[in-house]
Amino acid sequence: MKKFLALLATCAIILSLVGCNSGTTDQAEAPATDETTEETTGETIKVGVSIYKFDDNFMTLYREEIDSYFKTLDDGNTYEVTIQDGKNDQAEQTNQIDAFIQQGYDVLIINLVQSTSAATVIDKCADAGIPCIFINREPEEADMNLYDGQDYEGKYTYVGADARQSGKFQGELIADLENKGDLNGDGVLQYIMIVGDPENVDAKYRTEFSISQYLEVSGNEVEKLDEQRGDWDQAKGQEITANALVKFGDAIEVVFANNDAMALGASQAIAAAGRTVGEDIYLVGVDALEEAKQLVKDGEMTGTVLNDHIGQSHTAVDAAVKAVKGEKLEKYYWVDYVKVTSDTVDDFLN
Ligand code: BGC
Repeated sequence: MKKFLALLATCAIILSLVGCNSGTTDQAEAPATDETTEETTGETIKVGVSIYKFDDNFMTLYREEIDSYFKTLDDGNTYEVTIQDGKNDQAEQTNQIDAFIQQGYDVLIINLVQSTSAATVIDKCADAGIPCIFINREPEEADMNLYDGQDYEGKYTYVGADARQSGKFQGELIADLENKGDLNGDGVLQYIMIVGDPENVDAKYRTEFSISQYLEVSGNEVEKLDEQRGDWDQAKGQEITANALVKFGDAIEVVFANNDAMALGASQAIAAAGRTVGEDIYLVGVDALEEAKQLVKDGEMTGTVLNDHIGQSHTAVDAAVKAVKGEKLEKYYWVDYVKVTSDTVDDFLN
């Protein structure tokens, strides 16, 4: 009987501890130890991540870093991280999000397939009371304001880098060259633009701001010879550049690629056409992928811009943890881009 009473008392303590646990997670998995008196210590937190597609160089680094950074967290909780491939299909990704919600996940980290789907995802998460961290593909401002003044405000956020800055840096990489990229000295920069995905703000802003900043810094004119959609993809970058080199030949002074994957493709096409970066053509990208940094070091790319997947993934994870602990999130968390030139590349190489 004594034993039974002791057991009852222990159960009562455990029940009160679980009950007091400030609702940070709706899972009743907290172990029956005194440690549970800490806010979320000792809990199992289920984190659902959906990446717009796995087959993307930059987002592969990003998602791997999300996973490894969660493993380094040492706050007494267990983070069970499930990362899914959106396969570049919004319907597929929406199903994944629905399943995460139905299975009682505690927080979601979402790299949208289509930024325009943000409102739907926010509504679903708000209904379920699950915090949501958007990464890499910035939702419309109106969507980020949807829950202002309501309970769900501060439970969703966007973590990213300001693509305007990366575009400006690309423009400066060319404008800061001694000849301002104007190989034929006619005061006009003849260029081609390889666009990521025109629906994506990163692509829009890089396309726009690389050129506006070039105009501002150089004082030159520009002439766009070609602009094609390359879907952030290396093979498409190669094909677009190869075709443009056939069509416009020596007239092309600069290839602007919205990301490094496409710039790597462009670099292959440039070499195949017998052109030499730094001598008779210039090439810039964004991301600072290892391969691109190596090309910058070897003089085969003019420069790139570091898209800090480490800073962004850590910020996203930190925000997810905060949200799970019931802390209010900022609406945006920004991580800076950094210019990478042949002079500075050594500082960035691993
Ligand atoms: C990166 C690209 C990537 C894209 C995915 C951009 O920020 O620069 O490399 O393909 O995000 O959304």
